[in-house]
Amino acid sequence: MRLNKFLAHCGVDSRRNCDELIFQGRVKVDGEAIINPGAQIDEKNVEVHVDGDLVKLKNNYTYIKLHKPKGYVTSRKDPHNPLTVMTLLPNVINVVPVGRLDKDTTGVLLLTDDGDLNYRLTHPKHGVEKEYEVLLRQEPKGNIEKELPKGIVLDDNGDKVKGEAQALNRKRTHYIVLLREGKKREVKRIFSHYETRVYRLHRNNFAGVCANELAPGRWKKLTAKEIEMIKKTAE
Ligand code: URA
Repeated sequence: MRLNKFLAHCGVDSRRNCDELIFQGRVKVDGEAIINPGAQIDEKNVEVHVDGDLVKLKNNYTYIKLHKPKGYVTSRKDPHNPLTVMTLLPNVINVVPVGRLDKDTTGVLLLTDDGDLNYRLTHPKHGVEKEYEVLLRQEPKGNIEKELPKGIVLDDNGDKVKGEAQALNRKRTHYIVLLREGKKREVKRIFSHYETRVYRLHRNNFAGVCANELAPGRWKKLTAKEIEMIKKTAE
């Protein structure tokens, strides 16, 4: 198995973050630092240590949904921001966030120690659906409803994004947006393209999972049905 995949399977972190740990020389296989994330290892016959701690394959993972409140950063540790989403969970639960929500964004955030599923849920090729509810300062200049499904090119870095946008009020300041990609600050950048600003962003749904029934800051383990559904979505 590839070294980065093995670490993700063990729940060390997401596959991308495991690549970083490997590049930094923090991962040793049978005592030797390996800096190639794609290195093949014989996982049944070697000992892998990360920062000196032995890591082992797991066979039962934890899957959590959190109603992320405003003001919390989506990160395991942030030296500049002690208020991370991890502080909302008990210390004994060793999971990592699936993707990211901005500090001021609220709504459903998944967390898991299943690094492989985490990788698949966030990789654009799987096109996992996310639904956002958006409040805007003014109505968008232009026909976002018609243009977004065909794809628009964002002004800031030329990223092409596609999705669906439906206004919920006549003033066109309240929207539901469906996206399948997951680029950084995607919703805010889309509306900035239409010369307006988002002042409230809430994620209603991620891969079919909703957390609106939970109060902000509360979390719950996913049901077997929800786990099955997200696994299917990321196939
Ligand atoms: N798009 C954004 O702009 N911010 C988020 O937090 C999520 C999607």
